[in-house]
Amino acid sequence: MPPTPKGEFGSSTYFREYSKYFKIKNSPLGDRGMEHYTMNLTLKVWRQKNAQSKGRFETYEVKDISSEMSFLEMFDVLNERLIHEGKEPIAFDHDCREGICGTCSMYINGRPHGPWHATTTCQLHMRAFRDGDTIIVEPWRAKAFPVIKDLIVDRGAFDRIIQAGGFISVNTGSAVDGNAIPIEKENADKAFAAAACIGCGACVAACKNSSALLFVAAKVAHLSLLPQGDPERKTRVLAMIEQMDKEGFGSCSFTQACEAVCPKEISITNISRLKREYMFAGLAADK
Ligand code: SF4
Ligand code: FES
Repeated sequence: MPPTPKGEFGSSTYFREYSKYFKIKNSPLGDRGMEHYTMNLTLKVWRQKNAQSKGRFETYEVKDISSEMSFLEMFDVLNERLIHEGKEPIAFDHDCREGICGTCSMYINGRPHGPWHATTTCQLHMRAFRDGDTIIVEPWRAKAFPVIKDLIVDRGAFDRIIQAGGFISVNTGSAVDGNAIPIEKENADKAFAAAACIGCGACVAACKNSSALLFVAAKVAHLSLLPQGDPERKTRVLAMIEQMDKEGFGSCSFTQACEAVCPKEISITNISRLKREYMFAGLAADK
């Protein structure tokens, strides 16, 4: 059994310790190398008919799971069996299965996206687990992300925040040449890193306040660092924060749990940037 991570559950210390342990022990280059093995597991999975009904954990035994399967492939195997037995398969969200779309969101053993650092659920491999393990799988727990069914939550709140201002409203025509607009290298790098956010919601799920600030900060930084996003810089940040509050996300108390679990390693320095942007936009609006 892995050691219990230090720190209060949900704190940044807890998630950092957890990541550190699994990164070393369960890395493909870790103590077991690329060795292939099969395992039998016990899964405790959250089942819930819809947003109105009360959910519960159901226990499933899965056998002969290959260490080379992805976590979602393991679910596919279980669902095939459930369908074959005439039972309702487990509903879970997924699309790209390559860490791009952000839909495969779930807690695995209490950690958003599971034990591996900077890895989405779809890119998590079963070699992260050992024969005989019990794995607990739950949907995101946040008021602004209501459960639709089983492990699927409605992340429409993120879409509405983007609709409020996470875009540039200019007619761009056809794509311009890559270097037609000079952009300082440092800003280009920072904008690129912020644009890596896939909108998965792990930051909200890890936060004890269910704050969406890391997500909003990434989107604001991505656009405000580029000349194309500059004209709407002030209205954008005010509108996105207003929408975030309307959706019922909590406030940020800077525990850094969001950064510790983010599969795209979005830095909380973006939150500091967002706060500056918000303050200056607010001062300009008051004039
Ligand atoms: S900031 Fe990270 S955890 Fe939050 S939505 Fe973006 S990718 Fe997911
Ligand atoms: S299924 Fe697209 S990021 Fe996991």
